[in-house]
Amino acid sequence: MAAHRDAGRAAALLPSAGRIRIEGGKVGRTVTRFKAVERFAHWMLAGSFILLALTGLATLFGRKVVIPLLGHEFNSTLLTGSKFIHNNVSWAFMIALVMVFVMWIWHNIPNKTDWLWIKQGGGFIGDKHPPAKKFNFGQKIVFWAVILLGFSVSLSGLSLLFPFEIQLFGHTFNIINDIGMAEAAGFGPLQGDLTPHAEMQYAQLWHAIIGFLMMAVILGHIYIGTLGMEGAFDAMGNGEVDERWANSTTRSGSMRSNKTNGPPQNDGRRRSNQRSRAMKAMLAGFLGVAVIGVVAYFGLHEIGFSSAEVYSGENVRLD
Ligand code: HEM
Repeated sequence: MAAHRDAGRAAALLPSAGRIRIEGGKVGRTVTRFKAVERFAHWMLAGSFILLALTGLATLFGRKVVIPLLGHEFNSTLLTGSKFIHNNVSWAFMIALVMVFVMWIWHNIPNKTDWLWIKQGGGFIGDKHPPAKKFNFGQKIVFWAVILLGFSVSLSGLSLLFPFEIQLFGHTFNIINDIGMAEAAGFGPLQGDLTPHAEMQYAQLWHAIIGFLMMAVILGHIYIGTLGMEGAFDAMGNGEVDERWANSTTRSGSMRSNKTNGPPQNDGRRRSNQRSRAMKAMLAGFLGVAVIGVVAYFGLHEIGFSSAEVYSGENVRLD
């Protein structure tokens, strides 16, 4: 019961001190929280995001940080590899994002239960146990942050991947001017008639800003999912969470009860089974990233596209 309340707290705010424990300890009976396909999509999203974040950071800071430390030659190899990985892995990220969106959107639409959760401060204020279904309000914030930031970073990424083909910012600035948003915020009208190169520069800037925002959210998410909270990792690892961890959610009936009649949690064989299920889920997701990356690479070459060779396009004008 308390564990689920704490799940909400932790998802809404970073825990300030220590690990959040399951009150009373695990009971050893589990309920299914995420099916194999959900865990596959999550690990494909996670694996691709981590690769994109690392290679993106290398691209952004290579010149300033890597060259002084490790020299030009190392930086050149690192950035050639980073660009290759970044461009091809992005497809696995976009596919996983769509999968996660389709599978979890229904559970993340705000409803009256969330209002109660908010009113009770996610369990922070008072001793009440805020209600929640499959995802509590804190987890819904993580979901929508991932979806909205993920969509935005993907769209700006596509305009960088297909240079001069997708013009996003001039149109957006015109809309902002038309609805009077710029003036309301105390600015003059934004320049809507952008040159194609200015479009690309805005796309780069936006891509980096959203990338950093997403990294901040995900760092918090990873902390809670691993060290921050006892029992949380199991949900995405082997898919089963301890009954006590899930208590309130089970009562809402949104989780399938899966009583394990075997010996209690400290039984070695059961734990090693759970570990191997978790490893399989993660490996399958990472393999998905690799397979989609390879298909994207050869597929794009097959249709004669390579972003490395695009320096200009029909839309380019020199003014
Ligand atoms: C090593 C990295 C990661 C770990 C250990 C991790 C762990 C977890 C865990 C344990 C859950 C289930 C929480 C629950 O029961 O509700 C979860 C859910 C989720 N994860 Fe991750 N995750 C990682 C990376 C990522 C990344 C990189 C993304 C997105 C780019 C992501 C997006 C999500 C989303 C949208 C959910 C559902 C919302 C929620 O439950 O908070 N995760 N993750």
